Amino acid sequence: MRLTADSIRARLHTRIVGRKIVCLEVCESTNDRAWQEALAGAPDGTTVFAEEQTKGRGRFGRTWFAPRGTAVLCSVVLRPQIQVERVPLITASAALAAAEAVEDIAGVEARIRFPNDVLVGGRKIAGILVESRFISSQPDLFIVGIGVNVAFGRADLPEDLREAATSLAIERGAEVSRVRVARALLEALDRWYREIDGGLRAIRKAWRERSAILGRKVRVRESGRTTVGVVDEVDPIEGLVLRLESGHVRAVRGEHVERLEMLENE
Ligand code: BTN
Repeated sequence: MRLTADSIRARLHTRIVGRKIVCLEVCESTNDRAWQEALAGAPDGTTVFAEEQTKGRGRFGRTWFAPRGTAVLCSVVLRPQIQVERVPLITASAALAAAEAVEDIAGVEARIRFPNDVLVGGRKIAGILVESRFISSQPDLFIVGIGVNVAFGRADLPEDLREAATSLAIERGAEVSRVRVARALLEALDRWYREIDGGLRAIRKAWRERSAILGRKVRVRESGRTTVGVVDEVDPIEGLVLRLESGHVRAVRGEHVERLEMLENE
């Protein structure tokens, strides 16, 4: 069934997120369409959904795989009044929201791979792409793009994604309603978004507890360099602390992490 604003809004319990909902048949990227809405003055929480994207994008210019009608693809306009240090909390809130929606719908445990992938059983089920505008060094507008894999089976996945990706239908072993996923996602994002100002401790705690990588050996690629180490600490604002084989520790900020692979712990 197609996603419509009416079907999502029915029984949607949010205060800000989803205040205005736009559902498109097709667009290049819901992030682009949300930018257009935002620049035309759309209110905080405006959300754009699409059945299909012809140029869906991921972080670092990667393309986002989502055959028509098989995913929840959306972008949310957020206009928080926050200090620049708190900017990473936007991504953290979106990752928490996607993880909670996945758990809610599929009844399986969802974890966050730093900085913003949502995994089930080690495979990616949702991705987040946050874009922002700053005015005089102050964050002023965010477009939070979220893609949740819902309805495709393993055979629908291209060979190179078969091991790395999964969907709610695969994990649940049954059909999943995209309307329910969309609602669960908006409701969870609405809750976390309202914590951004006062609930720093709550976001940090929930995000750390959901980490897929704490205590794990990982290979991190950032700013053109690759580092292997064990994750000693992880925090949405401070980033991660890696203990290298040499014994040295290194801090890595989320926005610089291009790729993070989990390795077998020795
Ligand atoms: C990533 O894992 O690299 C982020 C993927 C983000 C994909 C979503 S789908 C909806 C929104 N529109 C886009 O073009 N990208 C995001």
